[in-house]
This record gives sequence, C-alpha cells and structure tokens, in this order.
Amino acid sequence: MSDMPAIDFTGFDSKPEKTIIVLVQPNVALGSHGKALDKSLGQQLTRAAAAARFTGARKTSLEVLAPSDSDLDRVILIGCGEVEAASEQVWAEIGGYTFGQMSARKASTGSLIAETSNGALASDAAAAIGFGAALRSYNFRKFKTRAKNGEAVTEAPQKLAIRCKDASGANSHFARLRAIAEGMFLARDLVNEPANILGPVEFADRAAELTKAGVMVEVFDVERLTEMKMEALLAVGQGSARPSRLVVMQWQGAENKRAKPIAFIGKGVVFDTGGISMKPAKGMEDMKGDMAGAACVTGLMHALARRKAAVNAVGIIGLVENMPSGTAMRPGDIIGSMSGQTIEVLNTDAEGRLVLADALHYCQERFKPKAMIDLATLTGAIMVALGKEYAGLFSNNDRLAQWLSECGEAVGERVWRMPMDAAYDKDIDSKNADMKNIGGQYAGAITAAQFLKRFVGDTPWAHLDIAGVALASNRTEISESWSSGYGVRLLDRLVAEHYES
Ligand code: BES
Ligand code: MN
Ligand code: ZN
Repeated sequence: MSDMPAIDFTGFDSKPEKTIIVLVQPNVALGSHGKALDKSLGQQLTRAAAAARFTGARKTSLEVLAPSDSDLDRVILIGCGEVEAASEQVWAEIGGYTFGQMSARKASTGSLIAETSNGALASDAAAAIGFGAALRSYNFRKFKTRAKNGEAVTEAPQKLAIRCKDASGANSHFARLRAIAEGMFLARDLVNEPANILGPVEFADRAAELTKAGVMVEVFDVERLTEMKMEALLAVGQGSARPSRLVVMQWQGAENKRAKPIAFIGKGVVFDTGGISMKPAKGMEDMKGDMAGAACVTGLMHALARRKAAVNAVGIIGLVENMPSGTAMRPGDIIGSMSGQTIEVLNTDAEGRLVLADALHYCQERFKPKAMIDLATLTGAIMVALGKEYAGLFSNNDRLAQWLSECGEAVGERVWRMPMDAAYDKDIDSKNADMKNIGGQYAGAITAAQFLKRFVGDTPWAHLDIAGVALASNRTEISESWSSGYGVRLLDRLVAEHYES
C-alpha cells in the first residue's frame, strides 16, 4: 500500500515543526494563534498577504519565508474561504489542498494550526483535515524504478502535525477516519494494479489478508463453484487461463452475532476484453479496473473491521477474467445460473451481470441479509447518462435509496437514482431462454439493473453502477489517483448511520 504520512494531533503549545501552516478566512482573517504568530514575525504574514493580494479565498495559498532570526523556516497560509458550518467533506478538502501545497513547496513536515478566526476548530473538523491530507497523499508509484529525465525525485511530505484544542478528541475521531482511508487506499491499489499482477487468484489472496483484521474469509475455487451451480459466473471465466474465484468476507461486530447482516456484493472482472464480442483496442487498458466494485467491497470490509464497526456485514466478490479463447463462451450460448434461471448470452461483453447474478442469488439465499448493495462498473451507458460525477443508483426499496442519496451527499460520493420498471423487462426477455443478457439500443444501464433484479428476490436491494465514478476519476483535492476508491466512504457512512447498533 502507498504509505500514509504520519498525521499527529498535538496541543497548541507543543513545539512546532519548521514549516507552520495557518488557515486563513476571507479578508485575511486569522485566529488568535495566527495573529500571535504574525505579531512575533513583525506582521510579516499580513504584509505579505497584502503585497501578494492574498485574501484567504478557498484554494489559494501563500508561502512566507521566516526572517533569519526565527526558529521557523516558513509559514504557509492556506485560504479556506468561509468555513462557518463547514462539513467533514469541506475540511477534508482543505486538508487535501494543504497536503498538495506542502508537496508542491517541498515541505517534508509541517505543523498546522487548527483554528479559524472564530476560534479553535472542533476536534472532528481537525480530524477531517488529517483525513483529507491522508487521502491526498495516495500515489501508485510502486512500479516506477527511477525518476524521468530531469524530473526531481518527488519527496512526499512525511508528517503533518495538527495543533488543536482537543488533541485526544481529534485523535479518536481520526482513528475512525484512518480506518476508512486505509480501506480507500486498499480499494485504489486493487483497481490501479494491472491485470497481469492481479488475477482472480491474486485478488482472492489479497482479500484473505483481511483475516488479520478479524474478518472471516472463505475462498471458493472452480470445483466448489461448479458444485454450487454458479454457471453464470463460471461461464464468464471459462475463456481465461486463470481460474475464477468467489470470496465471502464476514465481519461480525454486532453484539448479537446472529443478527441478520447487511451485505455488499462486488463485480470483480480483473480484466474485461469483452470476450468473443471483443472490445475495440482504444482505451481497453482501462478494463484492468473492471473489478472496482469488488475492490470497494474489500476496502469497505477492511474499514469496518479496522474501526470495529458494531455491525454484522458480509462482503461477496465474484472474481473472473473475461477473455476470448477456444474455451470462451460464445454469443448465442445458453447458460444456467445458481438460481435455476437460464440466460441466453447475446453479447459476451455484458459479463458483469452474469457474475453478479450468481453472487446476488447466493448472498440472499445463504445470509438472508437485511439489505444487499452491489457495486459494479457495469455499463458504459451510465456514463452517457451521468458522466463522472454521480454513480447510478437502482433500487427496489425507497428507504434504502433515500439513505444512499443522503450519505452520498454528505461524503461527496454522490448517487443519482435511476428508474426501474417492469416495462423494461420485455427488452431482456428471450425467445430461447428465461432472459437474454443484453437489452435493445437504449436504456442500457436500466436494462442491466432489471437483469440483476431477477436474482435478488424480495431482499431490499440497491445497485450502484460505478463505471463513471470509479475509474479514470476526476482529480480532486483528496484524490490524484486514476482509481478514486469510490464507495468505501459512502457505504461506511451508510453502515454508521443506519445499521450500527
Ligand atoms: N465493464 C464494462 C462497462 C464499462 C465500460 C465500465 C467502460 C467502465 C468503463 C461492461 O462489462 C460492458 O462491457 N458493458 C457493455 C454492455 C453492453 C455489451 C450491453 C457496455 O456498456 O457497452
Ligand atoms: Mn464487458
Ligand atoms: Zn465489464
């Protein structure tokens, strides 16, 4: 995993690092510690701000070098804009921006004064700054053995000490956020990892490492999956030289270990060539990330276990590789599924729903969960509809859908509910089998969801189509990664708000 910098919380009176970070509100408004620092530097901060027209607007910064007689090297002013009633997400973004500025200005360590012009920050806001800084620090450079010609070796900041009023309170808030950040790092790593390194077996091994955090992990191989009649999942992997796996992860954190769990199911296609219905070459490399749903579920289980969430949670991931070969499934093939329903495969590139069909059916039959939420980079059509800002949400349960929408807004991992209706079913009805795996020309994300619905029974269920938000993600203040780690925070929040006792 990409190393996280040390994020420490100390009191306002501890010895500062040589780089001090001061948060500034509009009109160069400083807090009392910032003002005292300015005074001790002969008003250097406010004078430099005036000279550079730095006012404290969000996402602006100014570096002020300390005079030669000072113990400090410099002060970095970070513009925060108006932050009254700022949310966790706003503070996280300020933390991410701060880390980016430290990095750009080659500060390896820094002390941030956690205050606004209205006084000391609450401990959860101080912790959120650390969380954002940690998320921003993520990089995927493990395969780069040397810097490019002329490019300096990047030295990422090693430490951010956050000076605050209630250091121990901030620390305990941060312990929980750190668990989530670790889960997001794990999800990002799994998605960024190329498919030659991370096949189904290797992915299952990585998931099995969660036993160290107290998660129960079962790995089912092809022989077991055949006995279980997971014919749809197996059909996708049958063209690959690398055998398929299904992994079941269980975290039992609720007081009553027998209480019904909440379940998360992830599409884990380690590489999607499209199979015999092969994809065009351009951009196909992105299909190393077609396991982002499974990566999210794995990262989430890590986070829940590390923060000892008071919940029983199940994570199920279907791990396959979709390849064309002499053993691959063909267009026109009719396959079975664990549920007994038959499927006519009209396009081997609509493979994710085949994997999920068996994983969803198995999940509800074995665990009778309170609710099931699946995540999948399922369709290009969801990107046509929603772009890269919102995940598509499909659900048979209004309350669950509402909760997901609210949690998504709160953490900045947004979802937009899409319609589901029996009227779309005719698009996937088949002449030769119970259903076909593609619909018509239109509404591709919806017909995919209607397909999944046939495998969930009466269980409250939500499907998140994350094709747009998980891969080739927009750069933000808290992510510079190709893979965003989308979903870990959203579902952690859902669990915390609605499923923990
Ligand atoms: N994994 C793809 C969807 C995808 C596309 C994810 C781009 C991320 C970025 C999925 O398996 C797929 O190929 N879907 C097809 C379905 C079609 C054949 C009905 C699609 O969306 O084109
Ligand atoms: Mn596909
Ligand atoms: Zn796919």
